[in-house]
Amino acid sequence: MAYETINVDIQDHVCLIKLNRPEALNALNSVLLGELCAALEDADASDKVRCIVLTGSEKAFAAGADIKEMADMSYVDVFTSNLFADTNNRICAIRKPIIAAVAGYALGGGCEVAMMCDFIIAAETAKFGQPEINLGVVAGMGGTQRLTRFVGKSKSMDMNLTGRFMTAEEAERAGLVSRVVPAKKLIEEAMGAAQKIAEKSMLTSVAVKESVNRAYELPLSEGMLFERRVFHAMFATEDQKEGMAAFLEKREAQFRDK
Ligand code: CAA
Repeated sequence: MAYETINVDIQDHVCLIKLNRPEALNALNSVLLGELCAALEDADASDKVRCIVLTGSEKAFAAGADIKEMADMSYVDVFTSNLFADTNNRICAIRKPIIAAVAGYALGGGCEVAMMCDFIIAAETAKFGQPEINLGVVAGMGGTQRLTRFVGKSKSMDMNLTGRFMTAEEAERAGLVSRVVPAKKLIEEAMGAAQKIAEKSMLTSVAVKESVNRAYELPLSEGMLFERRVFHAMFATEDQKEGMAAFLEKREAQFRDK
């Protein structure tokens, strides 16, 4: 399918989605958000895709929601359309793993979309921030909620109240990103990680994603019960038999998603 504001490429079971509005530093307008959700849903439904990488340009992953599009909206407009609820819900409903590969600015909605992915690999050039306060608004897609869970109250307050940007190094130290790599190697590293995931059993990847995400929603005892039940359920799969047999026979497992 042809898109206006994103590029989509599938290689070796990995779907690479590149945000492509260079004239606006990939600002997230309604067209881009609609196309992004549609591309993610297509990838989620496709037999050819086992993992997704979401990236932007060297200068910007995304500089936030499109300010030009929002500037004249009224309270009734944003309340009635439930602005950004659909994006959040659709991205969070994707079952296959999504890696955000971030270079340059990931600000406001850009940082928030990166946090909706399953983990973030950052180039040394990445800058994260929730500068909505400078526009007279609070974050609207998780900047006060997900960021607080990633980095804790003090740093989240600092980011949301001052609007300052965090470097990749600080973001890694704070637990927002999983690894920092040289800018030139960003896509190679993210595609390499996605390739590793693509080689696993899809049943297990989906179960891992669901289980880790429950940690955000449940008290520990309920989360532990959920994890244990999922762990037990995996014993009903052929992939569990294959994975354990392959280990004992000292060979690579051949998973069949069964
Ligand atoms: N929306 C719309 N357009 C944007 C944009 C945004 N969020 N960010 C950048 N642009 C546009 C600029 O208007 C400019 O376009 P023109 O050439 O037509 O004027 C172009 O992208 C290049 O930007 P700059 O000239 O500003 O580039 P710079 O290198 O000097 O600065 C920057 C880069 C620091 C990222 C700066 O562009 C900036 O501060 N952007 C806004 C960041 C921001 O406030 N994001 C939060 C948005 S609100 C939000 O996201 C709400 C939410 O929680 C969902």
